Amino acid sequence: MLDKINALRQEIDALKASSAAEVEELRIKYLSKKGEVSLLFNDFRNVAAEQKRVIGQALNELKNQATEKINALRDSLSSTDSIDSDLDLTRTESPIALGSRHPLSLVREEIIDIFRRLGFTVAEGPEVEDDWHVFSSLNFAADHPARDMQDTFFIQRNPDVLLRTHTSSVQSRVMEHTQPPIRIICPGRVYRNEAISARAHCFFHQVEALYVDENVSFADLRQTLLYFAQEMFGPDTKIRLRPSYFPFTEPSAEMDISCDLCGGKGCSFCKHTGWVEILGCGMVDPNVLESCGIDSKKYKGFALGMGIERITNLKYRVKDLRMFSENDVRFLEEFQSAH
Ligand code: DAH
Repeated sequence: MLDKINALRQEIDALKASSAAEVEELRIKYLSKKGEVSLLFNDFRNVAAEQKRVIGQALNELKNQATEKINALRDSLSSTDSIDSDLDLTRTESPIALGSRHPLSLVREEIIDIFRRLGFTVAEGPEVEDDWHVFSSLNFAADHPARDMQDTFFIQRNPDVLLRTHTSSVQSRVMEHTQPPIRIICPGRVYRNEAISARAHCFFHQVEALYVDENVSFADLRQTLLYFAQEMFGPDTKIRLRPSYFPFTEPSAEMDISCDLCGGKGCSFCKHTGWVEILGCGMVDPNVLESCGIDSKKYKGFALGMGIERITNLKYRVKDLRMFSENDVRFLEEFQSAH
């Protein structure tokens, strides 16, 4: 009997299986009720009393060995099984390189954040627009030369369908549906028929702000501009307003900020003036309020509009506008640390 046990132990030690079905066959062969190990246990009855201790121990060892071996075979198969099913050969090698946010998105979010702190909420409008929202409602007369200020891409003539040339179109879209108080900030892409160069592109981005309520004054506009400039460019930033012209505002102004490269002393960046221009603004022309259904005797408003590329250039000194849309990873990666 001992010889039989030892022979089985060697046999079991050498067992191999290449599938779960084979393991199960082995289990049945050795460990099931009629399996070889179990049959030996049945024979145990006939063992002479003085041998019972030695053979009993050997039998138990055999059973343990067989159970462990079968379990080990099963484990080794299931771990290779799971590698096969979980292995995703298309996965990026880790650690996964995180992308970075586009500089224009970073600056747009920063501008929105500053105005949000003043109670402005984001409003958006379509990029494909009609003449009314881009020009007529904003006090551009049909034959007014101001229409030539913006080189429009027309999709269709009569009725005109065009790509918006400025985000001021969102002003009229909001005003025609909403009565004051209105306090909105409108970020978005705009299009102009310009030859592409380092300094001009046929599409770029703007943020428009509009505040309409009773008793809104130019002083409110100026204070908002100062707050924005100092939040965006630092607490020492100074602002300067120069008279200007826009059809939709009266009076109109352009705002400069002190050049932070030379601290206002004058350098090549600010063309030796100590100032750099960053946005247009003014008090909403009463004609605009009226054409959008707002009572201009009761309500006043201010508006301002700025180019996001321009602000980004000032913050990050990007010299060539084309960099923003070329998607050169070497350029985009420079902004990784910013977020
Ligand atoms: N829409 C003007 C442009 O694209 C910018 C602008 C100027 C917006 C003055 C305004 C404003 O709201 O008051 O050049």
